[in-house]
Amino acid sequence: MGPCADPTIRRNDLVKKRDLITIADLSDQEIEQIFSLADTFGIRGNAASQRKACSEKIMATLFYEPSTRTRLSFESSMQRLGGSVISCPDMQSSSTAKGESIADTARVVSSYADILVIRHHWDGAVRAMAEHADVPVINAGDGSHEHPTQTLCDLYTLQKEKGKLKGLTVAICGDLKHGRTNHSLVYALARFGVHVIILAARNLELPQYVIERLHADFHYSIAPMAMDDIRAAVQSTDAIYLTPSQPHQLALFTQADPEIQTRLQKLVSGLKFDAFYVTRQQKERGKQEDTRDNGDYPRIGENFLKERRFKDTVIMHPLPRVDEISRVVDMDRRGIYFKQAAYGVPIRMALLKLMFDRLETAKPKTMQQGLPRYESTEPIGSQCSNSNCVTRTESSSTRPTFEVLFNGPGSGLILRCLYCDHQFKVHFIGHATSCRYCSYDTTLEETVRKWLADRELAVFESIKQAEELGYEPYKSGPQRNIMDESEIGKAIDQMVDQVLKDTENFDRLLFIGIRTKGVFIANRMAAQIQRRQGRAVEVAEIEIYGPRGDTLRRLSSSSLEPSPVNVKDRPVILVDDVINTGRTVKSALSVIFKSGRPQSVRLAVLIDRGHREVPVKPNYVGKHLPSSERERVRVKLREVEKGERDKVVIYSLISPGFSHQRSAHNSHLRAED
Ligand code: NCD
Repeated sequence: MGPCADPTIRRNDLVKKRDLITIADLSDQEIEQIFSLADTFGIRGNAASQRKACSEKIMATLFYEPSTRTRLSFESSMQRLGGSVISCPDMQSSSTAKGESIADTARVVSSYADILVIRHHWDGAVRAMAEHADVPVINAGDGSHEHPTQTLCDLYTLQKEKGKLKGLTVAICGDLKHGRTNHSLVYALARFGVHVIILAARNLELPQYVIERLHADFHYSIAPMAMDDIRAAVQSTDAIYLTPSQPHQLALFTQADPEIQTRLQKLVSGLKFDAFYVTRQQKERGKQEDTRDNGDYPRIGENFLKERRFKDTVIMHPLPRVDEISRVVDMDRRGIYFKQAAYGVPIRMALLKLMFDRLETAKPKTMQQGLPRYESTEPIGSQCSNSNCVTRTESSSTRPTFEVLFNGPGSGLILRCLYCDHQFKVHFIGHATSCRYCSYDTTLEETVRKWLADRELAVFESIKQAEELGYEPYKSGPQRNIMDESEIGKAIDQMVDQVLKDTENFDRLLFIGIRTKGVFIANRMAAQIQRRQGRAVEVAEIEIYGPRGDTLRRLSSSSLEPSPVNVKDRPVILVDDVINTGRTVKSALSVIFKSGRPQSVRLAVLIDRGHREVPVKPNYVGKHLPSSERERVRVKLREVEKGERDKVVIYSLISPGFSHQRSAHNSHLRAED
């Protein structure tokens, strides 16, 4: 039995209480209530009417990371409400230094206080502590994950300055990968119908799990934009536009179609920027290669102030600032970050008051509701892909649980960690009683839902892991060969012919293969071009929700470290083996767009199955194969399966999961990757 069987954890399963862990824990109506209450407190929060509002209450602040504003404004707020505050001046001087778990600390401190305000350097640590605390817990920042109370201050400031939220356009700049304030803010902006321009520093782009959540929960999609006029203000010249309005779907077709380009350009040319939200580089969180500053980190200075276009654009920052905003902005009416910090007191007073008055217990309806949850039935199995997630750093205080999304890239099964929100793709699934496994694809969705409901689902990172746990592969029905080696060769040649016809500038051409098979097909196409034209073409690979997260990297055998690829203004050919629903391509496009705006993106696939749910149309197709949705199509390449010849096969699985007998037969089915 795994650690999840420990009956002492998840104490709050028994205790009904309301925590604030992510911004999704508050409904729109509650946020508005907080704002109206904050209005009555005045900027310093010293309205006489509330001096006794929390006089019987004690708040504990547990800050495992440095803080000035968040901690002091919480403490000031509680005192202004007549309550008292207990605190550990430095968590390193608490029992943490003696090795106490965060679960025990939370449990103990919740018997000394009526509410806990916690900041921690691990993603998801505040949720883990809330699970063990008997009193409400407020997240004051957990690793790179979220910082919901900062978002309340940010939204309040924006609304006060602009008189509304809906329809505003806000640019978010800087370290969007690690900056937790950005993550909570972007979800909240989407909820209130704000258009968002993303100006990420290089290698510090908004994570794919955030982008996909924005899409799933609020129907926001991204469009890559060339914004030359932004160059006056910030160094980076490409932006992505996050918007709920329809034309963003056009961004999926970037075949340099002039009409579409014009429509996309129109979309941004009329934009009026209401605010720039600037954030510092989170050097304490990034890996070294992420934190190198090549002088292109978005910064706001005199140029920005001079630009007519920004004459009514306010500049916000959660603070502390390092050098992203020049001191000259402090003197300008548009620099409102000190006011934003001051609002921390009335906003946190209003929040505390509402939490003590018991916020209605109903959860807001904004986020994906009712997603099935998965907890491992096996002692080992999938773990969260985020190495800073509390489930990895302190597993004894958590019970790894994942929300299950059936519509991931590559027809994949996606698990989203309940603690840190990171998503990763499951390749292999198993049925626990019959001890059978197979690779996942969309045809198995119903089966997997049933296994989940029956607590029979097991997930594995590899075939090796499944087999080590005593699982055997499912049997497959008869296989039909669809293409043999020479047909695959011909199909690739045909695609290359087309590419040669369409390409004027080979020096800039970039093939991006979708890992794993797309990369090998891209390599073969590039080798053909080299043979036929004597020109080397660069090949890169893209991986979505892989063990290293989402990556777009240059393929280079000499270096083990992934090196970034420049896609800006280049004609890109995205390559995959099979296109089925089109979701993989859509996710791959957003990973590409985040790293720069290519001149065009064309799509080459060896096989088009024609079940597309997303409006992407391949430009180059080796073979159209209108196969039944229940059938599995598998491309075998000699580079992947050593000793095998290239071929494409089609087959069905024999009733997975409903035979509860462990079968002694060996199956012919090998897993797909
Ligand atoms: C932010 C934080 O801690 O995430 N600061 C804050 O709470 N005002 C931003 C930062 O540290 O950069």
